Amino acid sequence: MAVDLSVNFCGVRFENPFVLAAAPPTDNADMVARGFEAGWAGAILKTTSVESEVVSLVYPMMVGMDLDGRRLAALENIDLISERHIDQVEKDVRRLKKEFPKKVVAASIMGGKKEHWEELVRRLEAAGVDLIECSFSCPHGMPEKGMGSAVGQSPELTEKTARWVKEAAKRVPVIIKLTPQIADITAAAEAVKRSGADGVTAINTVKGLMGVDLDSFVPYPNVGGYSTYGGISGPAIKPVALRCVAEIARKVDLPISATGGVTTWRDAAEFLLLGARTVQVCTEVMRHGFRVVEDMIDGLANYLEDKGLSGVEQLIGKALPHVVEHSHLPRDGRVRAHVDPEKCIRCGVCYVACRDGGHQAMEFGPDRLARVDEEKCVGCGFCTTTCPVADCLTLRPASVI
Ligand SMILES: Cc1cc2nc3c(=O)[nH]c(=O)nc-3n(C[C@H](O)[C@H](O)[C@H](O)COP(=O)(O)O)c2cc1C
Repeated sequence: MAVDLSVNFCGVRFENPFVLAAAPPTDNADMVARGFEAGWAGAILKTTSVESEVVSLVYPMMVGMDLDGRRLAALENIDLISERHIDQVEKDVRRLKKEFPKKVVAASIMGGKKEHWEELVRRLEAAGVDLIECSFSCPHGMPEKGMGSAVGQSPELTEKTARWVKEAAKRVPVIIKLTPQIADITAAAEAVKRSGADGVTAINTVKGLMGVDLDSFVPYPNVGGYSTYGGISGPAIKPVALRCVAEIARKVDLPISATGGVTTWRDAAEFLLLGARTVQVCTEVMRHGFRVVEDMIDGLANYLEDKGLSGVEQLIGKALPHVVEHSHLPRDGRVRAHVDPEKCIRCGVCYVACRDGGHQAMEFGPDRLARVDEEKCVGCGFCTTTCPVADCLTLRPASVI
């Protein structure tokens, strides 16, 4: 069965849901062309502004977080919008639309005042973009100028600014890239809806501070002895992004483009299941190159086929009916931990975890085999997160144990 990977997002057709996010991989036409050749359905060009907007970058601007030997569990950047202003981006759009007429070329814009937003829209529409994304969400540098997440953190400013852009756009849909740095992201999405704009992107990077050098006392990244807060991306932010997408999808009737921590087709499928229509990727592309999309396309197609679904459209939102408020979670049907004695390597990790982080329900005898005391086990699930062996420690309905 041939599956249909294409999706409709805000009236624009994407040949598959995989899109390059606004970031270094989309900062010039040569790079985007290579991305398109690899299979990406669309690209959001790195955020640009009018020529008078000063973009003063500092170096180094990126630092990674390793976790138990896994490099780049998270990436922090203090990059700003592109140093390439709209005049250069206009040329890129013209070239990309000519060479890749079927790919979606989107511009990401940021303005300091109404006239700038309007000029950006007018010029980029004339250059031929298919979609305009507005960054109301960069968490560093730009907020100091009243831009970026300074806008996205206020539903009032979000509505007002999104309306300027939407009213200026005569031909193409306008989407707003939201910040997770707000108490209720659905309030921002509702403001976008009221503005008349066509959709949202969720989320931009999460504001953070990656760490401190214990010798010099300078936090990372060290820019001449000083540091500042930055935007965190990569696998570590996926749970925040999933939550934001689910919250918006459940409450606000707007198409969603997801971004935040996607490294595999599985991550992408989760975002689609929670209501996203396209999935944008940045950090994984920066780390492993444009061709990661080949595995994403194959993996998603195989998954759809295995599930007997004819296309991506059938997948979108399928997990949403399973997301409820805490008070609506079922209180019956308890589960208990179960250890597969054939798989247990007798390491004792689950025993310690249950003893000091759970309900003292794991027995660890002289033979070092873990055994569950079903009277004491409440089925909290913590032990299953610590066991190093796949499928050794599982949760089962209490009745079958
Ligand atoms: C170095 C760097 C620069 C970025 N620049 C922009 C930008 O100019 N505009 C924007 O909207 N997002 C920007 N982003 C955010 C990404 O588009 C994306 O939303 C974020 O990194 C989360 O996705 P990821 O986890 O796949 O990286 C940037 C991210 C990184 C790492």
